[in-house]
Amino acid sequence: MAKKEEKKEVVCVIGLGYVGLPLAVRAQERGYKVIGVELDEKKVERINKKISPIDDEFLIKNLPLFPFKATSDAKEIKKADIVLICVPTPVDSLYNPDLGPVRGACEMIANNFKKGALVILESTVNPGVSEEVVKPIFESYGYKIGIDVFIAHCPERINPGDPKWNVTNIPRVVGAFTPKGLGKAKTFYESIVDGTIRPMKHIREAEACKVVENSFRDINIAFVNELAKSFDALGIDVKDVIDGASTKPFAFMPHYPSCGIGGHCIPVDPYYLIERAKQAGFDHKFLKTSRAINNSMPEYAVELLQDKLNEIKMPLNGTNVGILGIAYKANVDDDRESPYYGIVKALKKHKANVHSFDPHIKSKSTVKTLEALLKKSDAIILVTNHKEFEILTGELLKKYGVKVIIDGKNCLNKDEIKKTGVIYKGIGR
Ligand SMILES: NC(=O)c1ccc[n+]([C@@H]2O[C@H](COP(=O)([O-])OP(=O)(O)OC[C@H]3O[C@@H](n4cnc5c(N)ncnc54)[C@H](O)[C@@H]3O)[C@@H](O)[C@H]2O)c1
Repeated sequence: MAKKEEKKEVVCVIGLGYVGLPLAVRAQERGYKVIGVELDEKKVERINKKISPIDDEFLIKNLPLFPFKATSDAKEIKKADIVLICVPTPVDSLYNPDLGPVRGACEMIANNFKKGALVILESTVNPGVSEEVVKPIFESYGYKIGIDVFIAHCPERINPGDPKWNVTNIPRVVGAFTPKGLGKAKTFYESIVDGTIRPMKHIREAEACKVVENSFRDINIAFVNELAKSFDALGIDVKDVIDGASTKPFAFMPHYPSCGIGGHCIPVDPYYLIERAKQAGFDHKFLKTSRAINNSMPEYAVELLQDKLNEIKMPLNGTNVGILGIAYKANVDDDRESPYYGIVKALKKHKANVHSFDPHIKSKSTVKTLEALLKKSDAIILVTNHKEFEILTGELLKKYGVKVIIDGKNCLNKDEIKKTGVIYKGIGR
């Protein structure tokens, strides 16, 4: 990235996580004066030292090149012409959406607001949140929408760790309450994104785009996860089938099964739509079924391990099981909603001895190296296809006395491992 000429507007990013931090860096690079407001003071300290708190190539490279001021002082928001809300939108243990952080951020902004500023919600929300949550908060402070405050929604689509698509080039959709607000938001994103910015007719439609995108993925993955279970019963390799079906050049899009879905988006966002539609009197059966199938995969991986151990007359109870990977996807340090946790829970229920190693999340690993994990393990469940695990072969597993491996990402060489006598089982292969 190269620094652009300075702009007069001040941009304030609320929440400096996987979404807010790259956005702040990009706005700084594009010539805005950027302030980042973050509740976590440790994060603020690291960011001000130009050290990325997130293990991400884009940030590690660009934060030192385009540093900005991070602070926990909400009063700084008063300086901003454009305020971007990038706070979490989680679900609770019963999968109920928790809009507390969005409400908190809006109150914080409304309390420290420069009249006439543009407020853009980037967090993923269900259709209706801008109208039912964001707008009333600003109105309760006496601000008139479209006069004192311009409110827009531009759902973030970033895919951390993606070598091709990042904050600089992912096309965006944007919605707002007034044409002027929409124009302002579109102009801002056109100044920071080298991709199409599509205005939506209604702010609710912009909100719906994001939940549809992530529900689309959830549903498709649920379909192949169900196929994996069916093909395990039928003795068919689901990966080969999907690769074969992918040779059809139209109307097929490959998705692959695994030991579970993680991250702050796909296993969370569908619940926002399910819940809001329920309040409106609609029951999303398809989405709920998909969520249930995908949520069942960590336990399914443990069932597969139990079956394979049974074949060699080993009980899961008392067996040393090593888990490779804590992160929910390859080459990142993000363990939010990771299937790792469901797998650990199921293994502990069966009284297995659990060990784990993730080169990207050493603080939560029980051992320090891959070798140490292999040494301790009678059986392995691979949860994350980190590049560091590409060296795993049947010969290596055999050398350390590993008897069974469950390939939760179907990323290992099944035939090579089987040849060595180590028992291999993938998800649906
Ligand atoms: N992680 C992703 O890949 C991704 C991709 C697209 C969209 N999203 C969406 O973007 C939003 C943010 O996700 P994230 O992954 O960046 O979350 P995150 O947890 O990494 O970062 C959010 C940050 O906001 C801070 N925060 C919370 N309330 C605050 C407040 N009132 N003031 C200041 N800081 C506050 C938290 O301390 C945290 O550091 C969510 O709605 C998520 O669904 C995430």
